[in-house]
Amino acid sequence: MVKIKVYGNQKVEGVIPISGAKNAALPLMAASILSNNGLKLKNVPPLLDVDNMLCLLENLGVICQVDQENTFANSISLKTDAIYNFLAPYDMVKKMRASILVLGSLLARYGRCKVSLPGGCAIGVRPIDLHLKGMEALGAKVELRDGYICASTDKGLRGVEYKFPIVTVTGTENIMMAATLAEGTTVLKNSAQEPEVVDLANCLNKMGAKISGQGTKVISIKGVSDLHWTEHNVLPDRIEAGSYMIAAGITKGCIDLQGGNFRELLPAFIEKMKQVGLTFCDIDGGIRVQTTGALEPACINTAPHPGFPTDLQAQTMAMLCIVNGESYITENIWENRFMHAAELARMGADITLTGHTARIRGVPLLHGAPVMSTDLRASFSLLLAALAAKGESIVDRVYHLERGYCCIVEKLARCGVVIDKIKH
Ligand code: EPU
Repeated sequence: MVKIKVYGNQKVEGVIPISGAKNAALPLMAASILSNNGLKLKNVPPLLDVDNMLCLLENLGVICQVDQENTFANSISLKTDAIYNFLAPYDMVKKMRASILVLGSLLARYGRCKVSLPGGCAIGVRPIDLHLKGMEALGAKVELRDGYICASTDKGLRGVEYKFPIVTVTGTENIMMAATLAEGTTVLKNSAQEPEVVDLANCLNKMGAKISGQGTKVISIKGVSDLHWTEHNVLPDRIEAGSYMIAAGITKGCIDLQGGNFRELLPAFIEKMKQVGLTFCDIDGGIRVQTTGALEPACINTAPHPGFPTDLQAQTMAMLCIVNGESYITENIWENRFMHAAELARMGADITLTGHTARIRGVPLLHGAPVMSTDLRASFSLLLAALAAKGESIVDRVYHLERGYCCIVEKLARCGVVIDKIKH
């Protein structure tokens, strides 16, 4: 799928099953390397980024078997007793920054690895200095040579107290994975509290790790000598759920989201959406979200969990574009995550950017237009705007959507939405 044609003025009404979280599945897959005995993951979303991680693991020597559970989920068995390669090459890492997650597990289990530097990406510079400092604190020797991180340890990793200067999600995951096999206890301060970090810690504990404090700022990891096989269900994708909540908001629809406790996973987001005027009620196995009356403008600041997630900022902006009054969004995580603003403006939105803050003056109606996706969440925001707009839109470069939203066309079709895939 290259582009999608979206017909405007559509209402999203129906039931949407929420898939497993991409941002939980990727670190869990990397965690398989920590054990000689493999790992079985269930509820894995069939997504491009998951395929990319499978390629990377296979390249290392992991034997991967993918079985379909249903249209929206696979189970993946990872057999890890024959890893022979410790190189994550540039061609693979450049496709997906989360490849950096193999650093901690390769280093912990094999004492050496060579991982390409990921480089920048559309939403910001995205350094990995904190991953490297954490590995050094655990006793690894880290060198940067010819675009690669060459990390090794002579006597194995050893437990340490390490404070992250800023909150990093994959940084916390990487160091936590490395510390599971280190000698002694590691205490990670100012850790990320995201549910995906908790899911990883819970899976590692099922494999025999001794991790406590996950979900708080201080995580303790008592090193063990090896880990065993387990089976783990990937937690539901809170960002996918939040994105569809906004679909109900922007189209004045009603959606039953199935598959998780989304109130617990999205506390600040749901609170803000209630202020905007969306209504939520618990249903069997999920939550119903709907909009009936007029929506109110909002003032939003993105922040690490449990704050308002940056990964729902673009989608929220699309909705606020047609809310009467002035809204403000300040993006505090990524320095360049407003690229959707210019595309939304092509559809008639009134957005002014000043540094990290966007002022959005609501307009009565957006108009269909050809627009270009710039990253995963921005793509969804353009799709949302197109669904609510007057007339047709063509959204280009939608391969971004396929990286992180499982079966989007099929899920929306279940809610009566018509979207045409354009293959070239
Ligand atoms: N940072 C550094 N140095 C580091 C690591 C991070 O300066 O070594 C900075 C980043 O540049 C950024 C901030 O710290 O300004 C937070 O970055 P973080 O490391 O938390 O981001 P990440 O782990 O690379 C994950 C998600 C992102 C999500 C962020 C924030 C995965 C695979 N990715 O990225 O998801 O936006 O956390 O919640 O888990 C997405 O799904 O669309 C996406 C971009």
